[in-house]
Amino acid sequence: MKISHKKVVEEHNQFAEEYDSWYEGSYNEYVREIEADILLRYLPKNKDIKILDAAGGTGSLAIPLAEQGYQVYCIDLAEKMLSLGKVKAKKKKADKNIIFKRVDITNMKEFKDNCFDFTFCFGTALSYCDPEKALKEFKRVTKKNCFIIVDFKSLYRNLGMLIVKKDEKRISKLLKTGLYSSDFHKYTEINYRIGDIENLVKKFKFKLGYILGKDIFYQYFSKLKSEDVDKIFNNQKNKKYFMDLDRQLRQNRNFIPLAIEIIAVLKK
Ligand SMILES: C[S@@+](CC[C@H](N)C(=O)[O-])C[C@H]1O[C@@H](n2cnc3c(N)ncnc32)[C@H](O)[C@@H]1O
Repeated sequence: MKISHKKVVEEHNQFAEEYDSWYEGSYNEYVREIEADILLRYLPKNKDIKILDAAGGTGSLAIPLAEQGYQVYCIDLAEKMLSLGKVKAKKKKADKNIIFKRVDITNMKEFKDNCFDFTFCFGTALSYCDPEKALKEFKRVTKKNCFIIVDFKSLYRNLGMLIVKKDEKRISKLLKTGLYSSDFHKYTEINYRIGDIENLVKKFKFKLGYILGKDIFYQYFSKLKSEDVDKIFNNQKNKKYFMDLDRQLRQNRNFIPLAIEIIAVLKK
């Protein structure tokens, strides 16, 4: 299926100003902590490395890495997301260590082969562009034996929402094609099962490290009132408890379908 980059970029430019506010609030901040927890587990300790944050948007994950002293390239197609990221990086005095650049992750001609030591793509950009082209490019620009960590929108999550609505037309399309037209986006997105991701990994001959579920308790907490969620996640002890449990279970195949997104930890 051909996804129009134009529509994706238009939409991300349109909501760029409010994008960071979507990650405010106790639970969303906890989700960002899960993402950081996963990245830090695989990130080399040596600060001399070059990191690629592919489809990095406003740099929410790239900037903390630049603050730690890593050299980070944050690339994206939406200029507004990038320009907001530049302002944030400057405010945090991390701008010396980060380059924001308008680059298409499906065609990164700006970058030579084997030039990054760690590549990640979070925020499900592989639902909005050609995943095969993007994965090929991630593999090309990353050095041998280095990590490439990519998240994918989970089919199981949207399937659940459609089942509750008894939306037979969209259920059937999602199950047959993996495509999902939400009420929110102007474009159809690609959703993935665990097996779809494993097939891509095989096709492009990555070394598969792990498949993980990102945010495996989402389904449970999303049923609670937001003030009750806040009560739980504003408490550091609770947060630590759920983070520890998430660490134990995120790699368990029985729990992955509960997650909002699926992460592949790959090596070239
Ligand atoms: C949901 S945002 C995620 C941003 C960031 N990774 C984060 O976690 O906050 C998805 C991003 O993917 C970018 N994107 C989509 N297709 C792209 C492509 N082909 N090349 C580069 N960026 C792309 C969008 O512009 C958008 O900023």
